[in-house]
Amino acid sequence: MQDYTEFMDSVLVSAEEIEARVTELGAQISRDYAGEDLLVVCLLRGAMTFTADLTRKLTIQHELDCMSLSSYGRGNYASSGNVRVNLDLMTNIEGRHVLLVEDIVDSGRTLAHVLSMLQTREPLSLRVCVLLDKKMRREVPVQVDYVGFDVPDKYVFGYGIDIDERFRHLPFIGSADLTRYIRPA
Ligand code: IMP
Ligand code: MG
Repeated sequence: MQDYTEFMDSVLVSAEEIEARVTELGAQISRDYAGEDLLVVCLLRGAMTFTADLTRKLTIQHELDCMSLSSYGRGNYASSGNVRVNLDLMTNIEGRHVLLVEDIVDSGRTLAHVLSMLQTREPLSLRVCVLLDKKMRREVPVQVDYVGFDVPDKYVFGYGIDIDERFRHLPFIGSADLTRYIRPA
């Protein structure tokens, strides 16, 4: 396996900065949903690490469920917005306060798709928390209620986010120079 230091441009967000921001988001979400019955929905797999840390910063009672989506048809490190549901929620969200947790919003297509799908199930409320926002890349308007960090238009990895399913375990967010990255065979 290629060593990430061979293609990493820079550390965009350090482990310490992530920890501090996730703590703030947890406090804010805990205030906003005080007294409510919250269901946190983790979008697998990219948001696993973020969700695990974020929910441990919540001081309010809540439930956790997961969903797995994949986008197909574009390839080469960009999502197409043609979203397939690999694993649906176990929980009936009708009448529930739902907070969707996602790793990155880029074009907005993935979130727009999942939001419209979940909206048909008539939750009481539906909000979005993303770790990273690539604002300049937006093609579809999507309401994001909580944002960890704005990031530039670069391919990022680490803290749950992969390149070819690898490097999710790194504790920081790095940006990749894909011209120096060797794709696994
Ligand atoms: P969107 O549908 O274009 O907003 O893309 C969002 C999805 O693309 C996220 O769920 C990520 O999985 C993936 N994605 C977007 N940018 C990156 C990146 O820089 N690194 C890894 N995955 C990314
Ligand atoms: Mg994803």
